[in-house]
Amino acid sequence: MNGRDLVRSVKMVGSVRGMRTVRSAWRRQRADARALSPRGPERARVPGLLAGAEPGPGGGVVRFARSELCIRVSAGGAVFWAWDGAEPLPSYALPGPAPEPDPRALLEPDKDGGWQVVSERLTVVVSRHGAVELRTPGGVVLRRELPPRWWEPVAGGSARWVQRSELPADARFFGLGGRGAGPRLRDGSYALWNTDPGGRFGPGDDPLYLTMPVQVVVSDVGTHLVFHDNTWAGRVTLSEGQEGAGSGHDRPGMCEVRMDGGPLRCWALAGTPARVLQGWTALTGAPALPPSWALGPQHARWGFGSEREVRRVVAGYRERRLPLSVLHLDIDHYDGHRVFTVDRERFPGLAGLAKELREEDGVRLVSIVDPAVRAEPGNAVFDAGSAVGSAGAFVRDARGRAVRGEVWPGECVYPDFTDPQVREWWGGLYEERLAQGFSGVWHDMNEPVSFTAFGESTLPRSARHCLEGLGGDHREAHNVYGLAMARAGYEGLRRLRPDERPFLFSRSGWAGMQRYGGTWSGDVESGWPGLRASLALVLGLGLCGVPYSGPDVGGFDGSPSPELYLRWFQLGAFLPLFRTHSAMDAGRREPWEFGPEVLQHARAALEERERLRPYFVTLAQLARLTGAPYVRPLWWGAPGDRALRDCEDAFLLGDALLVAPVLQRGTDRRAVRLPRGRWYDTATGEVHEGPGQVLVDAPLSRVPVLARAGAVIPVRGADGGLELEVWAPAPGRTGGGLVVRDAGDGWEEAEVERYTSRLSGGQVVVERDGGDGEVTCPVRVRGV
Ligand code: NOJ
Repeated sequence: MNGRDLVRSVKMVGSVRGMRTVRSAWRRQRADARALSPRGPERARVPGLLAGAEPGPGGGVVRFARSELCIRVSAGGAVFWAWDGAEPLPSYALPGPAPEPDPRALLEPDKDGGWQVVSERLTVVVSRHGAVELRTPGGVVLRRELPPRWWEPVAGGSARWVQRSELPADARFFGLGGRGAGPRLRDGSYALWNTDPGGRFGPGDDPLYLTMPVQVVVSDVGTHLVFHDNTWAGRVTLSEGQEGAGSGHDRPGMCEVRMDGGPLRCWALAGTPARVLQGWTALTGAPALPPSWALGPQHARWGFGSEREVRRVVAGYRERRLPLSVLHLDIDHYDGHRVFTVDRERFPGLAGLAKELREEDGVRLVSIVDPAVRAEPGNAVFDAGSAVGSAGAFVRDARGRAVRGEVWPGECVYPDFTDPQVREWWGGLYEERLAQGFSGVWHDMNEPVSFTAFGESTLPRSARHCLEGLGGDHREAHNVYGLAMARAGYEGLRRLRPDERPFLFSRSGWAGMQRYGGTWSGDVESGWPGLRASLALVLGLGLCGVPYSGPDVGGFDGSPSPELYLRWFQLGAFLPLFRTHSAMDAGRREPWEFGPEVLQHARAALEERERLRPYFVTLAQLARLTGAPYVRPLWWGAPGDRALRDCEDAFLLGDALLVAPVLQRGTDRRAVRLPRGRWYDTATGEVHEGPGQVLVDAPLSRVPVLARAGAVIPVRGADGGLELEVWAPAPGRTGGGLVVRDAGDGWEEAEVERYTSRLSGGQVVVERDGGDGEVTCPVRVRGV
């Protein structure tokens, strides 16, 4: 039985659980039928004709017959515009006060009878009918938003709206959170509604667990990011343009954003990809820095089942001298699947086990944390939650009764993480996890999931939420449920262990998720398409500001072939979260379970990951400081190179390395698209000159990895200390790299060291910028 069937059967088959899923589906449907009146008649509205304008800080307000448009350029260069009086705050995406307006940006009449705001990186031009154009400083159009249209329910309530935009004919779309079909988002419709696909997914399944209305658009004209700051359900329909489409004219790219309600407000950032991501994370928060142990190899399984099995698996790594940094415990270590409990029979001494593994094997334990709480008096979490505030901590229906759903422990209630008081209470519960010896947490099922026999497997849309005191229902809160849970967990861990950086990753999330931690693929199917989807997710999320993620290596369900497992493992070794994981009924995922040949090559991948650990530490720090993801599309440094824009089967790991994983069965050689410059095959030393495409060997023993000429890469030397691996610059060129040393798992600010490389008399010279230029660690020169 595969994972999806398992979950289905757990849900449906004539068991008590099956009956309950029918009941929860009914309840959900009834609650919505009672509380959400059908939309009824609506009135359509467009802005109408321009009626006047008022300058204000960073821009101003442009008035139309039936709406008004506020434009504000912020000091960091991000441009905000909003209709109908919407403001930047409140927002779940923005962590603090809205950015200061840029006093230099002024609203002024343009030559066509409209208005414009000129800023350093973007010019915003508003037409007399309410079209909004984003132009480069040189005046070329990056994006043209047509006048929006609203449909307002006559009986009152939030208006739904649509916003269509035209993009350059050569534009490519990326982002929208984690999409299995990416990284390039082809023509189609992408839902904005965090969804558990139910057991397993492949590239054709959409939406998935972590969606967000963030688009990154790359064209010859430039790169820009647009964020529609609205948490409601929506749909983005994309259609790539075509140059010289009809009678020699370009057909522009099109983007249509439809939302079921909520404000029409946008942020835009333009510039190089690096600048765009820097601006985006300046706006929505710096990515949390994982402790360095979370950059090592990790292993999980749903169903280790006992302390004995945990010890057996760790011993398997130890005896084979395979590095292992983290082991994850899934819901099977809970007592009756109840969150914040331990099955004392199968895990009688968890805290002792955690200590032993850490001290003797250097292995940390990470715990799954599900949001749903079994609704049962006597369950301490339920009892304590019921006593929070005046009405309890759990999401209520329109009649004030706690909404009940069905999850692993049975009938459950759901903490309302959009309530600050509830977040504080929930965050305190992590004390129990820390006391059990866990070093980090893995948030799951937080879309949130309630198993239903039919209809959506989540809470009723009519369920009520606090929404930071403003009040609203699940239509508005659903997409930020996982984000708000992450905030509760992150802040709780910070209070409980102020001296250590929390380690948290979460299946669901939204814009700004990176402030609290990372994410992972969820239940990616065990097949070659699943392997491809794994890379798509990591790349897409990175472009949305969430740099730390990775797949279930080997796929979540079933049993991968030894070849597929190995290729997945080799890819995973170059992704930020490198974790094997699988479902209860799936085959094993330990590297020695696939025969001696796979073990040998998996060992090499593990060892290479460990050798590159200082580079990962550096990339994690740089992601925090600059928003640049560790894993970047090949076009990162050259968005104007169209061939790179269309390349989806390779990626850059930082600035220095180009990784070309094997994503197809039976491959021992593959084509690799190269950005401009000289590249070395790190295994053979062979030199390739980009731009262009080359064929490289990809034997089972490794995937192709190329190093950029001139790169200075921090690696772990044979003695365990830091070493610099330097790839010879091309003649007449220089190179370099940044190094941030591991400053431990606390909050100490690490120093960014800058190195340059050059050729002098045929020799490679490396110098450190600043001071006397002396390099204090061993240097290993390659490529000469
Ligand atoms: C669903 C998660 O995606 C998966 O990783 C986990 O093993 C199961 N829930 C059980 O907790």
